[in-house]
Amino acid sequence: MAADAPYTHEPVLLEEVLSVLRAEMDGRASVRAVDGTLGLGGYSEAMLRTFPGAEVVGIDRDLEALGFAQARLEGFGSRFSAVHANFGDLRGALEGRGPFDVFVFDLGVSNMQLSEGERGFSFQKDGPLDMRMNPQGGGPTAADVLAQGDAKKLARIFWEYGEERHSRRIAACVEEHLRRGGRLETTGDLTALIRGCLPEPVQRKMGGHPARRVFQALRIFVNDELGELDSMLGQIPALTQPGGVAVIVSYHSLEDRMVKHRFRAWEKEEGLGRVLTRHPILPGEEERARNYKARSAKLRAFRFGA
Ligand SMILES: C[S@@+](CC[C@H](N)C(=O)[O-])C[C@H]1O[C@@H](n2cnc3c(N)ncnc32)[C@H](O)[C@@H]1O
Repeated sequence: MAADAPYTHEPVLLEEVLSVLRAEMDGRASVRAVDGTLGLGGYSEAMLRTFPGAEVVGIDRDLEALGFAQARLEGFGSRFSAVHANFGDLRGALEGRGPFDVFVFDLGVSNMQLSEGERGFSFQKDGPLDMRMNPQGGGPTAADVLAQGDAKKLARIFWEYGEERHSRRIAACVEEHLRRGGRLETTGDLTALIRGCLPEPVQRKMGGHPARRVFQALRIFVNDELGELDSMLGQIPALTQPGGVAVIVSYHSLEDRMVKHRFRAWEKEEGLGRVLTRHPILPGEEERARNYKARSAKLRAFRFGA
């Protein structure tokens, strides 16, 4: 069933996602599910195997991921279908289908996107400073954002989306570098600039790669990740049946806060159902040790209906 896998992708918090779904979908003969961040298809495959009566629609804005997951899941026949779309336009992506029992989202980037240098997501691999999850859709690349931004705007991006404490200093270095006609076209150009900008002792204190937070900030900005999340959250209730669940795994505090507040509003202000996770579910020690990406993951779940 699996296509040749050039990427290792271990789905984060998979057992925990399935355990919420098992508890809520228990005994149902058919389950209509949406995997809003299909990626390499790890969650979708697990749902198709766990619920033999399940039909899964997988959404991804990345055509390459979509192709990979489709090949991986083709053995499930018509039980699985894939849609190339932004989950910010959930209604459009699912037009003519639904309502659904399950929505799962595993936010952020996939290992495939990170491991391909030419996509520009990784500070560890050299490639064009692109970072668009859907390059075919056009829009500015990370290099364009840097070239168009003044130091004030860039500092705000680095601080808001990356919580980078040295945001102003790095933004000033970027502006100065470009003003002098310096190149900032590849991931290597940007990491070298950041290394040259921050004194050694500061870099040592940063814990992790000195470019990590700036890369995260640019990726979130380029792909409007928070706007997408906000729009998606606004559309889920109308697409979910009573008794249905939404499960969201996020990787940084900005996303987690948005999910937490929206779930609370659904429960307390709109009376749409109840929050299943008073506190977020976190990966266990073993998963955290095994899978670096899992370290920042948080799972929250909501059940619709009485
Ligand atoms: C962390 S990966 C998902 C991995 C997946 N759970 C698995 O087990 O293979 C996140 C995926 O979501 C996609 N994605 C992120 N933001 C999106 C959006 N706004 N609309 C659609 N897909 C998005 C990315 O392209 C990426 O493939």
